[in-house]
Amino acid sequence: MIIAANLKTNMTRSKTIIYIKEVDSFAQTTSQDVFVFPAMSSLDDFHTTKTVVGAQNAYPTVNGAFTGEIGLEHLEEFNLKTILIGHSERRHILGETQEFIVDKFNFFKEKGFKIIYCIGEPLEIREAGNETMMQYISAQYEGIDTKYENLIIAYEPVWAIGTGRMPTLEDIQNIHTQLKKKSPAPLLYGGSVKVNNTKDILNIENVDGILVGSAALNADDFSTMIQIAQEIENKK
Ligand code: 13P
Repeated sequence: MIIAANLKTNMTRSKTIIYIKEVDSFAQTTSQDVFVFPAMSSLDDFHTTKTVVGAQNAYPTVNGAFTGEIGLEHLEEFNLKTILIGHSERRHILGETQEFIVDKFNFFKEKGFKIIYCIGEPLEIREAGNETMMQYISAQYEGIDTKYENLIIAYEPVWAIGTGRMPTLEDIQNIHTQLKKKSPAPLLYGGSVKVNNTKDILNIENVDGILVGSAALNADDFSTMIQIAQEIENKK
């Protein structure tokens, strides 16, 4: 399974180095696919053996005049080949449009990056019913090569991110089943995943892994989630 930690705007470089070392030494003992996305200024030569380190964001350029952004050159310096694109915080807080997100997707696809592409609906859309919700989510697939071989999709309902609120397990299964028809890519769930709900979520049909924010900030807790995934796989 795919177990991913989005550290967002947390942890300085010195803390991130310790965190990744701890996570990686645990991940090595498992067969899970583990990803960690540190803050940009916390990137380093991490020398991981099992954990894949990725970028939370980058501008679709090799380099150039894009104040405050980093480009391909900066990712290559750390051998990064994985990137998160379309995260709800970038769509809703930073105002990234679908058009811009598609540009970013195409740029990093052309460079062969593994892309974790995030989708998800705000609460008012969810409350408008399944049809409205699926229309909204479908628009987030527009312009995206859903058959890209290095694609992973993460379904993260906006209203479940950092709130402790979550869709029911039935709802997750339902949505994931509908989304699986749109793309053969592995499909992660994200939004208020914690140690105590990891097992239930990973046991849902069509959930291929999890993308974890706040609960992943503790290396022991994140390692426990990896362990839970391993135990589920061992039973299969
Ligand atoms: P939380 O796990 O804090 O809800 O965040 C989820 C997320 O946004 C991961 O990308």
